[in-house]
Amino acid sequence: MCGIIGYAGSGNAGEIIYDGLLRLEYRGYDSAGIAVLSNGKTEIVKSAGRVEKLNTSAQLLGGNVGIGHTRWATHGKPDDKNAHPHRSGRITVVHNGEIENYAELKKQLAASGERFLSETDSEVIPCLINRFYGGNLLEAAIKCAKMLNGSYAFLAMCDGCEEIVAAKFRSPVIVGQGENCAYCSSDEPALAGKCPTLYILEDGDFAVITKSSVKIFDENMRPVNRAPVINSAGEQSLALCGYPHYMIKELWEAPAAVKNTLSAFAGVEAEARAAFAGADRVIFTGCGTAYHAALLGKRYFCELAGIPAEAEYAGELRYNGIQGGKKTVLVAVTQSGETADTVEAARLYKNSGAAVLAVTNCPHSAIARIATLTVPVCAGPEICVAATKSYSAQIAALAAMALSVSGGKRQIDTDCAPALISQTLQDIDIYALAEMCARARGVYFMGRGIDYAVALEGSLKLKEVSYIAGGGYPSGELKHGTLALIDGTTLSVFIICDGELAAKSMDAVEQTLSRGGMAAVLTTLPEVQRQFARRAEVISLPECNKYLSPLVSAAALQLLAYRVAVVLGRDPDKPRNLAKSVTVE
Ligand code: F6R
Repeated sequence: MCGIIGYAGSGNAGEIIYDGLLRLEYRGYDSAGIAVLSNGKTEIVKSAGRVEKLNTSAQLLGGNVGIGHTRWATHGKPDDKNAHPHRSGRITVVHNGEIENYAELKKQLAASGERFLSETDSEVIPCLINRFYGGNLLEAAIKCAKMLNGSYAFLAMCDGCEEIVAAKFRSPVIVGQGENCAYCSSDEPALAGKCPTLYILEDGDFAVITKSSVKIFDENMRPVNRAPVINSAGEQSLALCGYPHYMIKELWEAPAAVKNTLSAFAGVEAEARAAFAGADRVIFTGCGTAYHAALLGKRYFCELAGIPAEAEYAGELRYNGIQGGKKTVLVAVTQSGETADTVEAARLYKNSGAAVLAVTNCPHSAIARIATLTVPVCAGPEICVAATKSYSAQIAALAAMALSVSGGKRQIDTDCAPALISQTLQDIDIYALAEMCARARGVYFMGRGIDYAVALEGSLKLKEVSYIAGGGYPSGELKHGTLALIDGTTLSVFIICDGELAAKSMDAVEQTLSRGGMAAVLTTLPEVQRQFARRAEVISLPECNKYLSPLVSAAALQLLAYRVAVVLGRDPDKPRNLAKSVTVE
């Protein structure tokens, strides 16, 4: 959610920052901008739209120190004037986050003569720094930060001064030193191949980077030591490797992600089991796709481990009036580990004395630093905004944890899971169904039990990459209202992999067909395939254990969403209005 990057060195800052912004673009792609210090003066190029619009102008910026931004608009339209960097006097700033008291600050600053050029909340930052600046950029940035409520990761530059100051509160900033240069950025992939060692700033930290040094300070300008971490992101993982889109590349990476996640679970198994001993409340949480994985976590714990569990959206959990306590375990599922609602729910529960398990793909993320224990998801960098392989790996981690907590009462061979996903991707023919979706006025996904959790994800995936309206429902709910939507222009996609509940979902298919609705059935069950062979579009999935079937049905639904996006000419990697890593609430 907005990407920021800074560079100080001897290379061409414009080109280096442009390259970094391309890598950060999945965090937002409404507008982009670069500022470079050239002969003591700051030159800025910025534009609404994708980073590549700056390709030519970035090359022309001469200078060795600069900052850049790729925006996901929060305050103000995604146009040129609202694009970062923003400037006031000698100061130039890029910002990721939300300044909650910006209106009040703008009013105060305007009353004392400041003129604002944008509608953004961010523009107050350079104004405040400029006012506080008396020759020391760090000092001015600290004074500014003390005036801000909300979240920020900002980078500030000053004319005539070859340093960049970074500030962090509730939005991520990492810093690192390369050869004869230093960087700061929103995340690790942007610095893959550039900085082998990184420092992750904590809330309230400030960093000063120059060509030859990276120094971290607290709000009293006292030096702070942060432990170095190895940058795990490899440049190879950021390349398309011949695939037309990251979405399809990452779909094919799901088997390896699941395999690596299952192996890594062994390293935390004992601690994970211990966390649940004596717990009287187990809650799964997350946002979006991660919440759909959390729903499966809940079912796995109830059905496999025999432990009553709940699942709630992180943004709702925070405000339901109950805050955990010593006997509570909160399992927070998040690919990025930076999603504001999930991180804040984890913080709330941790402060209440609850054990917090973070199921995350990013071991250095904010949530990993809050959690009692990190349960690793080993999906590697996920560039496509729509989550695919990380969701599959989250499911695998949650199933492994439930099986382990069951203490051997339930045993499932999870080793076959990666092969089941590969087989699904290889064997299914989803083209006809993709065409049906592309033509439908609305697409509804339904299932029961674990199939319902997957139906929700199938619906979200299709909506976000195709922009086709629809929803996900328990198939038992169809007759309680949704049936009114069914006619010859709507398509209902049923996921039927749970043999015990299959008959009930099959009834819902019949109810849809008898009202003239189009129906598709994704199933691992041969009897269901036979039942609807000539009456609905049937997608036959590899037969497998019911608890592994979400890996199979999710792979099919992800592939379906991808194909529909391609049929409709959408960009599946960068859906409109969205961004990965939602660091605002
Ligand atoms: C959808 C998608 C989002 C994320 C959600 C949470 O494809 O990717 O719904 O799942 O924004 O993000 P994380 O998992 O980073 O907390």
